[in-house]
Amino acid sequence: MNNQVEVVWHHATVTRARREQLNGHRAGVVWFTGLSGAGKSTLAHAVEETLHRRGCRTYVFDGDNVRHGLCADLTFSIEDRKENIRRIGEMTKLFADAGVIALTAFISPLRADRDRVRQLLGDDFVEVYVHCPLEVCEQRDVKGMYAKARQGLIKEFTGISSPYEAPERPELVVDTSAQDLDASVRAVVELLDARGLVPRSA
Ligand code: ADX
Repeated sequence: MNNQVEVVWHHATVTRARREQLNGHRAGVVWFTGLSGAGKSTLAHAVEETLHRRGCRTYVFDGDNVRHGLCADLTFSIEDRKENIRRIGEMTKLFADAGVIALTAFISPLRADRDRVRQLLGDDFVEVYVHCPLEVCEQRDVKGMYAKARQGLIKEFTGISSPYEAPERPELVVDTSAQDLDASVRAVVELLDARGLVPRSA
C-alpha cells in the first residue's frame, strides 16, 4: 500500500510495553461484527463502561460515527467496505500501540476483510460475533433503514441486498435475541479478563 519509498518507521523510546505497564493492563482490539441493528454499538459501549470503571483505557469506534469523518468518502459498495475495514484495522493497530483497548462496532460483513485485520493485529484481535437473526433486526429497525432497503430506497443494504458472512471461528458469539445486555457484557468481559486485558487488581 505504501508508495512512498522514502518513508521510514520512527521508533519511540516510550514503548507499548511501557504504556501497558503504566496503564496496568494489556492493550488490544475487540472487534464486534454483525448485522445492522444486532446491537454491536450498544454492546461495545456497555463493555467500555464496565472496563472504564475497572480502570482500563478504552475507546469505541462506531460505524455511523467514523463514516462521518475518517471514512466520509466511502460508500457501501463491496470495495468501499473493504477500504473502510482496512482503515479501521490500521487505526486500531495504532490505538493498541498507544496502550488502549479499542472496541469496534462495524458490520464488517466480509470474512476476508475481517481476516485481513486479524492478520494485521495477531494476538491483539478478539472477534466477537454479535449474532441476531435478520428477522429480529428487521423487526427492531431502530433507524428505519430495513424498511427503506426493502422498498429499494437504500441500495446494497447488508442482509437485504448485500451479503453478510458470519465468522467461522470467532473468539466469542453473543446472541442478542436470546440473552440480555448484562449477560452479553459479562461474557465479553470474562473473555477479556482471561486474556489479560482487565487489570488483575480490579
Ligand atoms: S461496513 O459494512 O462498512 O462495516 P459500517 O459499520 O461502517 O458498515 O456502517 C453501517 C451503518 O451504516 C449501519 O448501521 C447503517 O446505520 C448505515 N448504513 C447506511 N447504508 C447502509 C447500507 N447500504 N448497508 C449497511 N448499512 C448502511
